[in-house]
Amino acid sequence: MVADAPVIAVDGPGGSGKGTITQMLARRLGWHLLDSGALYRLTALAAEQQRVAFDDEAGLVRVASSLDVAFEPTPAGEPVKVLLNGKDVTAAIRTETCGDNASKIAVIQPVRDALLQRQRDFQQSPGLVADGRDMGTVVFPNAPVKVFLTASVEERAQRRYRQLKDAGVSVNIDALLEEIRARDERDTNRSAAPLKPAEDAQVIDSTGLSIEEVLDRVMALAGQA
Ligand code: DC
Repeated sequence: MVADAPVIAVDGPGGSGKGTITQMLARRLGWHLLDSGALYRLTALAAEQQRVAFDDEAGLVRVASSLDVAFEPTPAGEPVKVLLNGKDVTAAIRTETCGDNASKIAVIQPVRDALLQRQRDFQQSPGLVADGRDMGTVVFPNAPVKVFLTASVEERAQRRYRQLKDAGVSVNIDALLEEIRARDERDTNRSAAPLKPAEDAQVIDSTGLSIEEVLDRVMALAGQA
């Protein structure tokens, strides 16, 4: 780890645009990217594959500590390829069920502890863009730039609805809205590293903004890293 490689921490709820923005930002800056949510999703998926129950804390910690994962770069505009035990799970970790399971195991502090060093190891030269819920508060508290990206729950549900529709998945917008509300509630009210802006974070509300507009704002802040 290069302890002084700069970090831009981008936290916020699902659907705030964090994933798209952090991928574009990392590409533009030529920096590394940490998708911490993917690690929670991978832990949930690996637990399911190994038939470890979501209330088996010791089992989940074992799964989290021994995750065999790789993130492979892809051409611009395509999601980063994610491998679990050498198998492509890029699509498998993006389902609503996997996200929901990830949110459930993410409330368990020992699971978070088991993933902590793995996340910090991404801090490499020339710099790191870190996407998550607790990047600025817990994982990289000394990050020189912290952004908290948010958007109204209705807008986030609409974005997710369009994404799923484009992917050929039929969903009910009201059910989606309820799911997002429930996940927000769990991520925000858990005692372990709850979703909240770091005291020194710049809050950006992306409701009604285009991706380019949000990226411009974050790029302006990134100049301070
Ligand atoms: O960002 P995402 O939707 O891929 O994250 C999936 C879940 O993982 C999210 O509901 C909460 C959890 N998570 C977390 O607790 N801490 C992080 N830094 C990232 C994700």
